[in-house]
Amino acid sequence: METNVSNFNPSILGIFCHWCSYAGADQAGTSRMQRAANLRIIRVMCGGRITPEFIITALKDGIDGILISHCHPGDCHYVSGNLKTIRRIPLFLSYLKQFGINPKRIKYIFVSASEGAKLTNIVNKFVEELKILGPSPIKNQNPNFIEKSLQNKVKII
Ligand code: FES
Repeated sequence: METNVSNFNPSILGIFCHWCSYAGADQAGTSRMQRAANLRIIRVMCGGRITPEFIITALKDGIDGILISHCHPGDCHYVSGNLKTIRRIPLFLSYLKQFGINPKRIKYIFVSASEGAKLTNIVNKFVEELKILGPSPIKNQNPNFIEKSLQNKVKII
């Protein structure tokens, strides 16, 4: 059960593709756009590299929210890498629900290299949404249970 905690400051892990979304975050930074400091970004070369294992690991490690972002459909620098993720993530989110993890903790977006302002708005909004959801309910649970339960589902995605 998720609780609303005042002055809760959510941690957000961003998993961004190098060519579009990471460049978009960079563009926001060089344009001095102000966004909440809750986001830490890891970069992958293509959105197609983003697998459910990344999300599970982040959740197990106590991250409150995960922001997945890559090139818009049709803009992938490796032609169709992001199309795999576009199919994979919605299915994975439906599994999360079965394990009592609110899929709203995972935000899935497309951000291009010129959409720094869009990214900034999304991050700021996501922080507010996570504040309402409260801390991750699996933060203090047995990580082995979570891993076994989710890994079994991940194998078939
Ligand atoms: Fe960005 Fe493939 S290079 S999604």
